[in-house]
Amino acid sequence: MKKIVNEMKLRLPSKSVNEGVCRAVISAFSAELNPTVEELGDLRCAVSEAVTNSIVHGYAHLKEDEIGYVYISVRLYDCREITVEVSDNGCGIADVEQAMRPSFTTGERGERCGMGFLVMESFTDSLTVKSRPGKGTTVLMRKILKP
Ligand SMILES: Nc1ncnc2c1ncn2[C@@H]1O[C@H](COP(=O)(O)OP(=O)(O)OP(=O)(O)O)[C@@H](O)[C@H]1O
Ligand SMILES: [Mg+2]
Repeated sequence: MKKIVNEMKLRLPSKSVNEGVCRAVISAFSAELNPTVEELGDLRCAVSEAVTNSIVHGYAHLKEDEIGYVYISVRLYDCREITVEVSDNGCGIADVEQAMRPSFTTGERGERCGMGFLVMESFTDSLTVKSRPGKGTTVLMRKILKP
């Protein structure tokens, strides 16, 4: 049975400055397992894509004075596995399979290229997306570090 070495939960308002905050926090927190520079880079990118999606898509409908929260939960395991769950209570995704197709985007062309899920998939060892329209989205990523 794998054991949890350390864990944390973070709740951040949906402000774009928090995309960078998440990158920094995931680096600092994962350092305990001595990941390589490459592994850290992968993790930072994947987490950043998930958080950005919650902010720009999940909470796109919010008015300026409304706040949506992004929840990030990280676990480090003794088998050198890191799990990161990013969730929001935003608009949700009607068709997850379609949303995960490379180049699919509902964002503005020129600004979004529909590559976020592909980045999350390629930079981690597993990716699970659960979503309910009107309720929100949860993205679970797993990264296994080299021995
Ligand atoms: N948390 C979320 N809430 C609501 N919709 C989402 C969420 N995450 C993703 N989506 C939907 O899935 C689509 C694909 O996401 P993906 O990250 O792959 O591309 P993108 O965000 O559109 O572009 P890019 O990430 O390349 O800037 C988005 O355009 C959006 O419609
Ligand atoms: Mg994206």
